[in-house]
Amino acid sequence: MKQPYKIAVIPGDGTGPEVVREGLKVLAVAAERFGFKLELITYDLGGERYLKTEETLPDSVLAELRQCDAIYLGAIGHPDVKPGILEKGILLKLRFELDQYINLRPVKLYPGVETPLKNKGPKEIDYVVVRENTGGAYTGLGGAFLKGTPQEVAVQDMVYTRFQVDRCLRYAFEYTRQRNKRQTLALCGKTNVLTFVFDLWERAFHEMGARDFPEIKREYYHVDATAMWMIKNPEWFDVIVTENMFGDIITDLGAMTQGGMGIAAGGNINPEGVSMFEPIGGSAPKYAGQNVINPLAAICAGALMLAELGEQPAAQAIENSVMAATARQIKDLGAGRMGYSTTQVGDLIAAGVAG
Ligand code: IPM
Ligand code: MN
Repeated sequence: MKQPYKIAVIPGDGTGPEVVREGLKVLAVAAERFGFKLELITYDLGGERYLKTEETLPDSVLAELRQCDAIYLGAIGHPDVKPGILEKGILLKLRFELDQYINLRPVKLYPGVETPLKNKGPKEIDYVVVRENTGGAYTGLGGAFLKGTPQEVAVQDMVYTRFQVDRCLRYAFEYTRQRNKRQTLALCGKTNVLTFVFDLWERAFHEMGARDFPEIKREYYHVDATAMWMIKNPEWFDVIVTENMFGDIITDLGAMTQGGMGIAAGGNINPEGVSMFEPIGGSAPKYAGQNVINPLAAICAGALMLAELGEQPAAQAIENSVMAATARQIKDLGAGRMGYSTTQVGDLIAAGVAG
């Protein structure tokens, strides 16, 4: 038998621990059935630890995380901690330090799931957003001047290097090729206003596409138009590649079209390093501890993790089980409206994976 995968588990805040518990339940069944082992190491990073110790992500923990095969994350965000501290200190720090330069966010409507888009179904809503995950406005470069005066100046720079753009584009082209659906990659940008940053993206996109991926059709949409077409004609999209903050925004929009935050999962990927998988919604503190939160996003994040680890059949089995449950059992993806508790949904999916 092969070596166990070493998985760092960060349940985090709010409903994070509840959804992670169900995700791990499903992963354990998948491991059993498909013949691999997971060695889990749990870390108590999050708001509670911060309130007790003022630590967000200690160097010693970071050093241990670098030694893992993957990280499985619940949610970060605590009502008693000022916004920004945990996000920057844990989530973004992990993305940057582990150089997880891709944020892969599938937008896929599963059967039986209600979408707010009229006359659209699973056939029309099935695409993937490749969000650049280490640059743009997220770098924190910038500053303030004359703070607190009427002359106050605040600058937050959108920064991109050719290197960052190229590696993200290469991943997106390769992903499009291997997904093998419509062989179409759309660049989402704002070339009409961000004339420096998107000039770089657009040139790099066409140069790389023409040179290395001639069979892949290239499209370009401004970000505002992307938002519009995601609602009006989502079936146009196969893979969308975009910069960090545009990707942040359009994937919340995409999530709502696939049934909401209860189902949307994402992977923070370093193809050459340690990747981290998470439900893309937040910690939903008002639902914490009630056994009502939807664990499907966390379960789907687990499937993304297995796919990245090379366990495709196991990942597919989890997705199939989720689709069977949304088609036939789960009434609604909203917290408290599923017709099942959090733990029951985990049991349902686990049973489907067990076969
Ligand atoms: C996300 C979140 C984060 C982001 C926040 C919590 C920093 O919204 O993963 O999409 O902006 O990337
Ligand atoms: Mn977001």
